[in-house]
Amino acid sequence: MSLDEEIRQRLEGLKIPTHIAVIMDGNGRWAEQRGLTRLQGHAAGRRAMKRLMDAAIDFAVQVVSVYAFSTENWRRPENEIEGLMALIEETLREEFKELQEQQVRVVTSGRLCQLPPSLQELLAKTEHDTADNKELTLNLCVNYGGRAEIADAAAAIAADAVAGKIAPSEIDTEVVATYLYQPELPDPDLLIRTSGELRVSNFLLYQLAYSEIVVLPVYWPDFDAYNLLEAIEEFNERKRRFGGRPS
Ligand code: FPP
Repeated sequence: MSLDEEIRQRLEGLKIPTHIAVIMDGNGRWAEQRGLTRLQGHAAGRRAMKRLMDAAIDFAVQVVSVYAFSTENWRRPENEIEGLMALIEETLREEFKELQEQQVRVVTSGRLCQLPPSLQELLAKTEHDTADNKELTLNLCVNYGGRAEIADAAAAIAADAVAGKIAPSEIDTEVVATYLYQPELPDPDLLIRTSGELRVSNFLLYQLAYSEIVVLPVYWPDFDAYNLLEAIEEFNERKRRFGGRPS
């Protein structure tokens, strides 16, 4: 895919974040504005996710984490939950060939055991079959909650401590990080949230400690390569100090 000339020029000299995390918010409001159902909004959100992936590959981003379904989303009406599960499944099936062609490695984060069995199987198969792909890692966060992830890590650490595999005195922030769902991924450099809300909403709580946050005013289904570029331009304006002093 050839990059739009304007995008190419604006990208020149920009530092590209290694890992971008995305809260894809606003599908419902986008649909409501158009007199469509919420599920039609999520289907449009799927098309926006494809634009995100294509642009991330073009811009040479290494890792993209997307918040597809949170541990709190079970509170939504049953038909929306079922529709979202079906949409994720359909997307994985329909996009599988392209994921392979684009060399996308899919990994997952979340309490997958609570998902419909057919989705669990498909996620496991997709992870397995794309494991050697090198162009971009897509971290699909499904039934994901930051607090649940930290609680799961704490439980696993406690189990290892009881089994004598680790001593409490050895447990520091780096050890805790190795018990998270995807310990080998670098922390996100940039968190993008669409639809203007200034919240982290239980996403990647441990990993976002020093991420730059860019909130865009667009609803997720309207997101495109220009919005990604805009967020990266804003990221480039920030001075990252990681708690230290300016250099
Ligand atoms: C938030 O919008 C979005 C979600 C809860 C679901 C995100 C899912 C997609 C973008 C569909 C495609 C995903 C995959 C993995 C194929 P909202 O419904 O909370 O919007 P609102 O705040 O306007 O109601």
